[in-house]
Order: sequence, then C-alpha cells, then structure tokens
Amino acid sequence: MPFTADRLILFGATGDLAQRMLLPSLCALDADDLLPPELRIVGTARSEMNDQGFRNFAREALETYLPANRRGSMADFLNRLHYQPLDATTLEGYEELARKVDGAGKGLAIFLSTAPSLFEPTIAGLAHAGLTGDNVRIGLEKPLGTDLASSKEINDAVASAFDESRIFRIDHYLGKETVQNLLALRFANIMFEPIWNANYIEHVQITVGETVGLESRVAYYDDSGALRDMVQNHMLQLLALVCMEPPTSFEATAVRDEKVKVLRALRPLTNADSVTGQYRAGAIGGTAVPGYDEELGKQSNTETFVALKAHVDNWRWNGVPFYMRTGKRLPERVTEIVVQFRCIPFSIFDGRGATTKPNRLVIGIQPKENIQLSLMAKLPGLDREGIRLRQVPLDIAMPDAFTGVHRRIAYERLLLDLIEGDQTLFVRRDEIEAQWEWIDAIRANWVENGATPKTYTAGSWGPTAAIALTERDGVSWHDE
Ligand code: BG6
Repeated sequence: MPFTADRLILFGATGDLAQRMLLPSLCALDADDLLPPELRIVGTARSEMNDQGFRNFAREALETYLPANRRGSMADFLNRLHYQPLDATTLEGYEELARKVDGAGKGLAIFLSTAPSLFEPTIAGLAHAGLTGDNVRIGLEKPLGTDLASSKEINDAVASAFDESRIFRIDHYLGKETVQNLLALRFANIMFEPIWNANYIEHVQITVGETVGLESRVAYYDDSGALRDMVQNHMLQLLALVCMEPPTSFEATAVRDEKVKVLRALRPLTNADSVTGQYRAGAIGGTAVPGYDEELGKQSNTETFVALKAHVDNWRWNGVPFYMRTGKRLPERVTEIVVQFRCIPFSIFDGRGATTKPNRLVIGIQPKENIQLSLMAKLPGLDREGIRLRQVPLDIAMPDAFTGVHRRIAYERLLLDLIEGDQTLFVRRDEIEAQWEWIDAIRANWVENGATPKTYTAGSWGPTAAIALTERDGVSWHDE
C-alpha cells in the first residue's frame, strides 16, 4: 500500500539525537523541498514547553549542527514544528498528543528516539489514543534491547500494535551514502561479483575507529560496551552487505532476505577469536585524554574496544576470516572495509627480480569516502636488470567523482524513507534477532571464561592482543 506521511511525531524531541541529527536532517530535507508540503511535525518529550519554545529550541539546534548553506529558509521549517509535553509512561497524555497531531491524517510517521524502557508504555499509549492504525508507521532508534530476550520483548510489544511491514528499525549506518555505495559497487558492476568469494578473497577487515571517549552517555555506554554498542548493529550490517548474495531486486524484502541468511550463517565465536580492551589515559592528536575509569569515576569491566575474527559458514565464504575491530579513543576516526584478495596462482615475474603483491580493495566509509583498488603495475624504465613492479592505488574519491552533490546526513535518507514508507534500509525483526543471538553467545563465553578487558593507551589501536589476533594468521591490520 503506497504511503506518505503528512504528520510526524518525534518522541525524545529534546534529546541529543534530535538536536544533533533529527531536526537538522528534517530541516535540510525541507530546504531541498523533499518533505511533503503539508507535513506537520510534532515533537514530544517530558519537558514543559509550548510550540514557540520548541521552535526556539530547534532553531538553536539547527544553528549549532546544520551548516548555514543547508538550512534554506529556516522559518518555513520552524513553522512546521509543534510541541506537546508528555509523560510517556501514563496513558492520559496520549489523547492530548493525538489532538495536537490532529488525528492520524493521511499518513502518520512516528519516530521513537527514547530509552528502550519507554517503548512498551509508548506503544500502549499510542494504541490507547488510536494512533496505531493502518496508516501509521513507526521508526525505532537503537538500542533495541540489551540481548536477545529483551530485544524480543520490545519487538513483541511493538508487534502487538504494528505489523512488521509498518515497523522501521533504524541502523543509521544503512543511511550512510558510502554504505549504500557498497551495494552499487557489488551489484552495479560486472567485475567484482565473479571474484567475490573464498576462491579469490583471502580475508576481509572491518574497522570502525573512534577518537571520542564516553561523551555524555556514561550510564548507557557503561551498561553496553563496544560489542553491543557497535558490533551488534552497525558492524554486523556492514558484514551482511559485504557477504550477501545478490538480491533479486533493490526492494525491502529481497535485500533483507539475503542479509538475514548471512547473519544466520555466522559461526559461533570461540573465546580465542575475540579480544576486548579498555582505554587508559593517553593522547589523541597531541591532546592528553583521561582513561575510561577516570571518565567514569569508578572501576568497570566494560569493554571500550573489541576485535573479533568471525566466519560466515556458507558456500561462498567458507574459510575466509572476517576480522572486525572497533573502539573508543583510537588514533583516528575511520570506518573502512578492506577486502584482501589472494595471491596470483603463478608469477611470471618472480624469477626476474620482481615480486607481486595481492590486490586489495579498500572501501572508505568515513571520514574519507573513497574506493581504492591496489593493483600491480610496472615502474617506467627499460628494466635491463629485471622488470620492476610496484603496487599502485586506483583511487576513486567520492566527493571528487560527484562534485556539486552535497553529502547528506545519514538520517536525512532514513527519515525520508520512513515518511515515504520504504523499508529497504531498515532492519527487519529476524535480522536483529539473528544479530543478538550471535552477540549473546560471545558475551556468554566471556562470562564463562571470566574474560576481562585488557588495557590500552588512549590513542593506540587497542591492546596488543588485538594485533596478535591477526598476526597469528600472518595478517596485519590495514595501515598500522
Ligand atoms: C552509535 C553509537 O550507534 O554510533 C556511538 O552508540 C557511536 O557510540 C556512533 O559513537 C558512531 O556513529 P558514526 O556515524 O559517528 O560512525
């Protein structure tokens, strides 16, 4: 059924995500005339405020987080905004909210950017106020649970009012341009797919490095840790996109059917294949930063770094290791996927004094948005003493390749898809549950083996054990 929302409710409208991402994304979409002209946006949160108060709040967020050249006429956007204070845990307020929204309209999109503990009462409140009908779509921001059981509980609560075709689970990595470009690279070119398998690929690395520490999310992060904060969602989605079979179309069911097969094929990890770390005081870019325990103000066993060696047990990927690492307070902010191809089967150059190196494809997701293919090439010259070869990069830098097209915030794409009812870039229930199942088993292993994080100095690439994880296979992490 075609869907376009003419109303949008933002739960958690005064929160950090709303300020940094949601309001700026909506304003940027409006500036490009991409929002339905009649779209009315109602923010809701606990704070007491009227419409004008919320517009002032939004203006400040936009001036802080959205570049001036993307704001368009902010006044028009601000005029779309309304506000209704709400205690999400009591039913009464929802009727007031429904009045503020002015009924469900033609189509209502609801975005929950609140603590997951509020999801269940919110769904009950929405149902009570008649805001869960067929013309309503609901977007859910992470974290969707802390393990499989709690995730199922949330999914069940949401499913009691919305069928799966109306539920939009956000993983903001899927809104990133370069992540979608991974699909274009694989499925819009003839040259990669025939060699995209264990016969030609030796291993894959996925790195998500961050320089930031705890930021303002002390309680959440200390309960979560790197495995649940980053691997369970973003990194497993990246892995699924790298590994999936070609879907039959670029539509929600076809794409998600293929991703879930990969997630279900993940081999349970043994303890030897994971390393955890926690940062101690150090320096990043020359600036001294405190250790995790100092930032937290107490000792903790939460991992701020994790490195894993995963396997996807299926025909295509049999025997190919997928090394993944992510952490806070690493030397640089970088997200990249490295596909390391195998050596050529026979070199005609070796006897002539030249060695060949295997090809490598590096997909830069952020901050560099590029695709780099390392190829062997001959150095210029007469080569009277033997041919000289060198590995040279074939580099496509995305912003250069598409000048004039501005980079969008990941949430722009996702909010627009929610408003237009397109689920392709959202996570289906079976995907998220397969993700949790794999993650839960890793954590259970850690508990059983009494594993505690090893320390690493802020500004380094994690504990030395993370280096050993790849080196025992004769592999180095990219660019160390
Ligand atoms: C969030 C995590 O999902 O992703 C944060 O909770 C992390 O801890 C963030 O910093 C990273 O997102 P991005 O888009 O900056 O790579």
